[in-house]
Amino acid sequence: MSGYRDTFRTSIDDPEAFWGAAASDIDWYEQPTQVLDSSNPPFYRWFTGGVLNTCHNALDRHVDAGRGDQAALIYDSPVTDTRRSYTYSQLRDEVATFAGVLTGLGVEKGDRVVVYMPMVPEAAVAMLACARIGAVHSVVFGGFAAKELAVRIDDAAPKAIVSASCGIEGKRVIEYKPLLDRAIELATHKPDSMVILQRPQAPAAMGERDVDWADAAAKASPVGCTPVAATDPLYILYTSGTTGKPKGVVRDNGGHAVALRWSMTNIYDVGPGETMFTASDVGWVVGHSYIVYAPLLAGATTVLYEGKPVGTPDAGQFWRVLSEHGAKAMFTAPTAFRAIKKEDPKGTFLADYDLSGLKYLFLAGERLDPETLRWAQDLLRIPVIDHWWQTETGWPIAANPMGLEPMEVKPGSPTVPVPGWNIQVLDPSGSQSEADVDGALVVKLPLPPGALPTLWNDDERFVASYMSAYDGYYLSGDGGHIDADGYVFVMGRTDDVINVAGHRLSTGSMEEVLAGHPDVAECAVIGVADAMKGQVPRGFVVLKAGVETDEEQLRGELVQMVRDQVGAVASLKDVAVVAALPKTRSGKILRKTMRGIADGADEAVPSTIDDASVLDALRPVLRR
Ligand code: COA
Ligand code: AMP
Repeated sequence: MSGYRDTFRTSIDDPEAFWGAAASDIDWYEQPTQVLDSSNPPFYRWFTGGVLNTCHNALDRHVDAGRGDQAALIYDSPVTDTRRSYTYSQLRDEVATFAGVLTGLGVEKGDRVVVYMPMVPEAAVAMLACARIGAVHSVVFGGFAAKELAVRIDDAAPKAIVSASCGIEGKRVIEYKPLLDRAIELATHKPDSMVILQRPQAPAAMGERDVDWADAAAKASPVGCTPVAATDPLYILYTSGTTGKPKGVVRDNGGHAVALRWSMTNIYDVGPGETMFTASDVGWVVGHSYIVYAPLLAGATTVLYEGKPVGTPDAGQFWRVLSEHGAKAMFTAPTAFRAIKKEDPKGTFLADYDLSGLKYLFLAGERLDPETLRWAQDLLRIPVIDHWWQTETGWPIAANPMGLEPMEVKPGSPTVPVPGWNIQVLDPSGSQSEADVDGALVVKLPLPPGALPTLWNDDERFVASYMSAYDGYYLSGDGGHIDADGYVFVMGRTDDVINVAGHRLSTGSMEEVLAGHPDVAECAVIGVADAMKGQVPRGFVVLKAGVETDEEQLRGELVQMVRDQVGAVASLKDVAVVAALPKTRSGKILRKTMRGIADGADEAVPSTIDDASVLDALRPVLRR
């Protein structure tokens, strides 16, 4: 089979034959007895009866095949001035030993392990070690505060936590230990042990349940791979929903391995021995899939980068990394390129480096604005590929498939549906929208392998969030359209999820914090357009009757509360004290209307509004 159109058609018409064939690129201890189990929709399961181990497929398999001396992972950290390379053999050994540490702590198949780590190779080692013994990792992004970590600990109920003594943000050293201790104090569930990687920048004082990574590893014996069912969970990754409570997206072992392996060849065009540099964080889905799992499943070399695109030391770091490690493909979020463009608009740093090996730049995580697309195209003179996906999907839903058939780029579009993803646009009545007409972007079931089978311990919320709006379809939460050529255009979220510097956040969780201030009667947080971060949150609070307060001081307190309780990554810097919030007659705050006005649109006033004068009074504040 060749070409996009044929491949796409087959994937939709005969998914079992299509994914059954793709599964042959994975090593199985026992072959699946059924490719797709459709007996209990919308809970579809892939590769039932199959038995495998994801870590074996990512590491041991390549060592056994003679790739042991090839670089598997390159750690590049300008913030600590470190470069370290691990061959496949070395990485396998490190992982097997750390798997021994976890086993020694009583972690068994099916147990959860929370990983809260900065961008150090040990983060990947911890994830792969869990996969090796069939434990379920749940990586929490280091930018989240203690309370957010505590919520995740309570939901995942981990047996152990793996962390480090500190993270490094530019020139700032952020101590993790006080934050971890606070999170455990806040959480109802108490893990048995916490493994701490001591970093010289800020060693941590160890407590009773703490285990020093280096000490434990020195005493541990390596362990082999535990066979798991294809349908067993590999990891849980919490992501922001519309409420403050995060959703635990579950990823299984079999579907994930097959889909990610397939994507490396067909979308990213990166194969064994080639290098991929994904500048994200292991705390996000992009980091899980394209820093850790997919490049290793493909026998490629992955670069794990600790640092920002700009700042320490300069805006030429991406170019340095790409040339030093000879990367064929780069993947990051558009916001990173906007940060470089702002600092070095002419791309002068590029002149110092040889990027002749770089064939593609892939961007995702937020809308790629045409100006950033053009800037990157002009600078790098290689295909710049926008592609659309979500934590839930685990890999791209729409992309320009470089390995399958490169297509013309249309600015503003992540190109075409990826094979396996039957994307459609539906109007509120559930009918298919005409070409070019915006509606809800949905995917006809079954979703392909690799997509979430459910939410952790919450089948009900899985159905309510994704499967109920339109019978037989997955609701992506994004709105958009498909043009007459079949190109998909993603216009933005239709719910209260926002995307700040490529980080997915819930305005609901910020509202919960603001509402917790004793002077606040009610509040709203909306995402507004921002030239650099894509979107930033803005807060609006109404004070309780009779409260007299220094507004400046109150604003400072509210900003600090969100930083302390959600995390610095929330980037909530702007809170306005207002007299009232616009609502419908049934009392629902008109956040969408507020968003539209803040972004400069000539937003129509909904007929359901309770009191139009409230909105009129708010207009100048929103437009500021
Ligand atoms: N641990 C602790 N704090 C963190 C953190 C972490 N892992 N990550 C971010 N933060 C902090 C930042 O230091 C910043 O703090 P500040 O308010 O004191 O400055 C705050 O959270 C906001 O972070 P961010 O939104 O990332 O802003 P930034 O100005 O530090 O960097 C970019 C902006 C665009 C350079 C950066 O976000 C980036 O490179 N993003 C693109 C890549 C990416 O990770 N995408 C994710 C999915 S693909
Ligand atoms: P996350 O789950 O963090 O990966 O965020 C997923 C959300 O990011 C999607 O629902 C979209 O709103 C947005 N997103 C991701 N990729 C793109 C893209 N290429 N174009 C537009 N929006 C995107």
